[in-house]
Amino acid sequence: MKGMVLSGGSGTRLYPMTRAANKQLLPVYNKPMVYYPLTTLMLAGCREILLIVNPQDEASYRRLFGDGRQWGLEIGYAAQAKPGGIGEAFLLGRDFVGKDRVGLILGDNLFYGDSLPAVAERGATGSGAVIYAYWVSDPSAYGVVEFDEAGRPMSIVEKPKQPRSNWAVTGLYFYDADVCEVAREIPRSARGELEISDINAHYLKEGRLTVEKLGRGYAWLDTGTPSNLLRAGQFVETVEDRQGLQIGSPEEVAWRKGYIDDAGLERLIGPIRDSEYGKYLQRLLARG
Ligand code: G1P
Repeated sequence: MKGMVLSGGSGTRLYPMTRAANKQLLPVYNKPMVYYPLTTLMLAGCREILLIVNPQDEASYRRLFGDGRQWGLEIGYAAQAKPGGIGEAFLLGRDFVGKDRVGLILGDNLFYGDSLPAVAERGATGSGAVIYAYWVSDPSAYGVVEFDEAGRPMSIVEKPKQPRSNWAVTGLYFYDADVCEVAREIPRSARGELEISDINAHYLKEGRLTVEKLGRGYAWLDTGTPSNLLRAGQFVETVEDRQGLQIGSPEEVAWRKGYIDDAGLERLIGPIRDSEYGKYLQRLLARG
């Protein structure tokens, strides 16, 4: 299974934090932000991953992830010269996708919930397009999906002034290989972007879109403003501290999914043995 993480952009709403650092590399409590969406893709079963990054940040991402082999992944990189909408991922990632089904996740989206692995796997193994909707108090900042009485999606509108529902479209999407062709044919929106909502609306029109609702037992957190970023960090800290279990650890997910074995995890622990994070991974190994 293939997956792409969209991790470019200029992060203007987080200035000056993002003057010299890429937004998705900023910390959410104890890890770089991009660890959370990356592990969501890993939980869905994606092992071949393309990271779409700004040219000037590629070296930092390579330092963080390398070729992914340490986590049993194959990580590649594509540079996006300037942001032109989420749909551009499918123009840049065309060769990577080839004839395969593909997942896309936004590098600033944090998902949490007990059944998340199963839900994401369903998207990964489904047909057509599978996207997720989450009830939010203010949907106007998002793609918004309207459902009919039978719970079928009726419309998807990007950032509507008068939203027809509270169901926001999250930043996790799965598509069949046709998506690259669809992305080529979709015209740019008024704001000059290749909108993911237009791609989803296209699949909806063709009757090939599934929208799965993420219910109240999930967290889908925004990291787009300083307050939201802080709150996301506090959420992670609260849960991790209470449980003594980490959210969004690629080492742990790789080990639990069997992408790496005990010896592989041991090797990763080596140089970070004395850090809190290293100690956590040692406890995992000791418990078996
Ligand atoms: C983008 C999408 C929107 C989606 C949101 C999820 O918005 O265009 O449909 O609901 O991501 O995070 P943007 O981040 O570009 O404002």
